[in-house]
Amino acid sequence: MAIVIVRNDNLVDVWKDALSSQAPDIPVYGFGEGIPESDIKMAAVWKHPPGSLNAYPNLLGIQGLGAGIDFIFDDIEIREDLPIMRVVDPYLASDMAEFVLAVSTGMLKKLQDYKYKESLSVWKPQSYERFKEVTVGIMGLGKLGLAVAQALESVGFSVVGWTRNSVPEVNFPVFRGSAERAQFLSRSQILVCLLPLTPETRGILNRDVFSALPRGARLINVARGPLLNDADLLYALEQGMLSEACLDVFHTEPLARDHPFWNHPAVHITPHIASVSDPKSVAPQIISNYRKIIKGEVPENLVSRSAGY
Ligand code: GLV
Repeated sequence: MAIVIVRNDNLVDVWKDALSSQAPDIPVYGFGEGIPESDIKMAAVWKHPPGSLNAYPNLLGIQGLGAGIDFIFDDIEIREDLPIMRVVDPYLASDMAEFVLAVSTGMLKKLQDYKYKESLSVWKPQSYERFKEVTVGIMGLGKLGLAVAQALESVGFSVVGWTRNSVPEVNFPVFRGSAERAQFLSRSQILVCLLPLTPETRGILNRDVFSALPRGARLINVARGPLLNDADLLYALEQGMLSEACLDVFHTEPLARDHPFWNHPAVHITPHIASVSDPKSVAPQIISNYRKIIKGEVPENLVSRSAGY
């Protein structure tokens, strides 16, 4: 009985080490190693090649190695009866909160613009904004969205939230569903997207949404690239609906070298690093889920196939 790690990057060893050091009794393999395929009971995956899990006939569960598991649903060859689990981890939430706080701060203090001016040796002081003058709208109030809200509020930002689901107990205004979306957007001077990618949310960051924001608003997308309509973002920037965007995620990653976002002065790009699963911190829940599925118990952080997250 064993776990296989299947990732599209070169981070297999660090996950193997984290799991093996915390559970020496569980054999852990990397994809492509000489694996006894029928022994594999759990696949721990990050953007695995679609169809690749067919190699393991005795799988009992699939553990996503991040918060978002949309890439698992994209693999139509995965057996429908297999439980899928995602990561819920305090560092994933606090790292995301720190990142959004840093980006929002940089936007208000115009740090990107000064970096650009520095490259031209241009000295040009500009006005800046204060946290307490700005309302941040958070789309998606899951674990990450709530952590971001708390961090922003703690330094003085006003926060409003939008969710399609039940409203959590929070001390800021929460708007719900399509009926209240316009109200939410009209208050969001910075729009932060933390929605899961599902058939309903794909392309949700579009011209309609941008035109409902206060003029010159800013966008931070730290969720998934396909939530954004790229052409609509370029249009919204050109029209002044938006003044700048910070994007950490893209339709195709790495972002193609000839993508217009690279050279756009108002688009700031980071390479999907806003919040990255920490193997040591996440290993205990993977080990616990592995032990549970072996025993036929219900694992933690189970994903709903019908909801898509
Ligand atoms: C990162 O994108 C994650 O889903 O954890």
